[in-house]
Amino acid sequence: MSRRLSDSPLCRTLGIRHPVLLAGMAGGPTTPELVAAVSEAGGLGAFGITGMSIAAVDAAVRRARELTDAPIAVNVLVAPATAPDPDGGDPRPAIAGLRTGMGLPPEAPTPPVPATPRELVATALAAGAAVVSVGLGDPAEVADLAAAAGVPLVVMASSVADAERSVASGADVIVAQGSEAGGHRSTFEVPRDGSVPLVGTFALVPQVVAAVEVPVVAAGAIMDGRGLAAALALGAQGVQMGTRFLVALESGAPDGYRRRVASARDTDTVITRAISGRPARGLRNRLVDTLEAEGPPALGYPRQAAASADLRSAAARADEPELIALWAGQAAGLAGAPRPAGEILRETVAEAIAVIRGLPDDAG
Ligand SMILES: Cc1cc2nc3c(=O)[nH]c(=O)nc-3n(C[C@H](O)[C@H](O)[C@H](O)COP(=O)(O)O)c2cc1C
Repeated sequence: MSRRLSDSPLCRTLGIRHPVLLAGMAGGPTTPELVAAVSEAGGLGAFGITGMSIAAVDAAVRRARELTDAPIAVNVLVAPATAPDPDGGDPRPAIAGLRTGMGLPPEAPTPPVPATPRELVATALAAGAAVVSVGLGDPAEVADLAAAAGVPLVVMASSVADAERSVASGADVIVAQGSEAGGHRSTFEVPRDGSVPLVGTFALVPQVVAAVEVPVVAAGAIMDGRGLAAALALGAQGVQMGTRFLVALESGAPDGYRRRVASARDTDTVITRAISGRPARGLRNRLVDTLEAEGPPALGYPRQAAASADLRSAAARADEPELIALWAGQAAGLAGAPRPAGEILRETVAEAIAVIRGLPDDAG
């Protein structure tokens, strides 16, 4: 039997050389340069296209395709909208002062109607995306588009039940997202009070591996080759990394955000619904504190997010980390200094091989 890392069903399914996936990170980090750098180095670069316009998706995918011939992925979030909570706190008055402080009107203008996940995925496929990835819900909504284009469907799940449901809906690869992960919890049904099961990566990965026939990728606090080696030991065939690539040189994350990530301690992240209306892990800042002081989010997902979207964009442009969503995983402090994404990927793979070779090979 071959012992090459690249010779796995995962790498064959996705057409990649190294079992390392860039997390599609909506909101700006996944620039064409970052996506292309990861793919060009042999991993799978992915755009987070939720919230982008059709024209922006088309341009971004085409630009990445100019930069690399290797496959690139796009990721969409398919969580259904949730109802407003009449007992919740309205975020709008709470952040009016933060808005005017950034030179914005006290109330957010009505946002343009966002493109649907189907429209986003169809655009990306027409522009040359070679993999479709889905988070936060049942992939059935876009699975037929991936199948019709003949491209693999990657689905992020944070429980065995959601992983099984994803496979039934057509997933070719499951990303098992442990509770350490940065960003939104990929829990399909979020109860009204927002409480979600928090299954850690070590507990989740082997149980998902046992439950599904398709290749499993581990996500959540994987920052380097030690994490890749551990994921392989648990039965995963690869890893998906978000927070580590967030600080890569090619990432679109503002400098202040990268610095906050790299200097974070293990206990610095929280899971909050305050920003989007759905639970997501990130670093505390003034925006989270201000919104959480109002109690549970009143507007539901995604309207809660729309209330601060232009504020967060203005803060990102001004490099003001106190007023953006600082999504990051529990191992953020291992992110290190900004480095080229290709270097991060190659070192991760080399370190994993060294770690595995360095393990004791007898019972002593
Ligand atoms: C800044 C940021 C944005 C994210 N955006 C998305 C997204 O748009 N779609 C998605 O499926 N997952 C998203 N995630 C979650 C990742 O897919 C992944 O589960 C997570 O990054 C893994 O944990 P880690 O951050 O510790 O590596 C995001 C994560 C971060 C840190």
